[in-house]
Amino acid sequence: MADRVCVVGGGGREHALASVLGRTAEVVVTPGNPGIPGSVSTPPEEVEADLFVVGPEAPLVEGLADRLRATGRLVFGPGADGAELEGSKAFMKQVLAEAGVPTARFRAFDAIEPALSFLRSLPGPFVVKTSGLAAGKGVLVTTSLIEAEDDVRAKLSGTAFGEAGRTVVIEEGLSGPEVSVFAVCDGARAVALAPAQDHKRVGDGDTGPNTGGMGACTPVPGLAPGLVDDVLATMVEPTLAALRARGIDYRGVLYAGLMLTADGPKMLEYNVRFGDPEAQVVLSRITSDLTALLAEAAAGELGSEPTFSADALVTVVCAAEGYPGPPRTGDMIDGLDDARALPGVEVFCAGVDRGPGGGLVTAGGRVLAVTGRGDTLAAARQRAYAGVGAIAWPGLHHRTDIAAIAAAEEGTE
Ligand code: AMP
Ligand code: GLY
Repeated sequence: MADRVCVVGGGGREHALASVLGRTAEVVVTPGNPGIPGSVSTPPEEVEADLFVVGPEAPLVEGLADRLRATGRLVFGPGADGAELEGSKAFMKQVLAEAGVPTARFRAFDAIEPALSFLRSLPGPFVVKTSGLAAGKGVLVTTSLIEAEDDVRAKLSGTAFGEAGRTVVIEEGLSGPEVSVFAVCDGARAVALAPAQDHKRVGDGDTGPNTGGMGACTPVPGLAPGLVDDVLATMVEPTLAALRARGIDYRGVLYAGLMLTADGPKMLEYNVRFGDPEAQVVLSRITSDLTALLAEAAAGELGSEPTFSADALVTVVCAAEGYPGPPRTGDMIDGLDDARALPGVEVFCAGVDRGPGGGLVTAGGRVLAVTGRGDTLAAARQRAYAGVGAIAWPGLHHRTDIAAIAAAEEGTE
């Protein structure tokens, strides 16, 4: 039994994790933020807890789960070896090949000339990714060969993303709707949570640069029946087996970022943690005991199947001026309590800090994830946007079309 859980991280995802784990356990969050109850500044290595749940990718990639396990702690989150799936897209692509998982054709490069000549051999659209971590912003998808060439130069020279861009992965462009599937893995077995849809571009109608995610919804209408089971059987489990063959015991979330192409589902990427802001909608739908599920996975003993409510959830990210570039910070956030008082609205705090007057001020790019719950996506959407409407600070921006297409498709299949 995990009576006390330590969540590592300090964003909206960790707020959602703390809130749902908090139904069945005492939760501390490190470092958390002033908007997340239970936040402590104690480093994770010094926290006493029965279970550690690591939220973000960066501490996983740099080995936090290994350090905690070395001192006998129960940890939900892969070691540095497994986290390379996200830390290096070149490694991920190699594992996908070993596991026989369909993905976009690609090559990895660390020199400019061969990268440019491969790019010129492709029909387009062109996809250029940093191999290393870039907070969701390292991917360019474009129909312009010139823009793609410039991006390859900027990434490989280190000017655009530092070390993360010193290797690039160039891919063929695929098209189709995207869906995120979160598999909770115990090293050998996996169970899936409810699928979700992210909205990665900053602007309405999927325009502007990629971000970490501007909003998400669940359920996802129109998915083929059996899609999630197929993803587990033909993608996630073979991936766990390929990792095991390399001596990697993967205990944590495998986040499958899929594109549903005319040729079937293709894996765009694996992440090694819950999505942010997808966690804010997916975790809220769980009706079984999340603490018990993650503890079983962490112990290598998955036994239970999670259950989900039929509710729809929509989350809208309220971002600070400048995001996904450097954000303006320090603005007083108005209306948080008013938003929370609305029916079916929950607000998760990400880039916030305590202001001089005691209220919360903006302190990052993605500031809040305003989440609505309803019987339908249309109802959940309406509630989320009612919540957004109650909140204000100078320069706040958000998309106005989160879950709009999904809500329109709802009930039509
Ligand atoms: P990633 O970080 O690899 O998931 O990429 C971020 C976003 O870029 C994805 O959610 C897609 O919208 C887009 N993307 C990535 N790879 C491709 C591809 N091969 N073809 C088309 N779009 C892509
Ligand atoms: N929302 C996308 C991600 O967490 O990577």
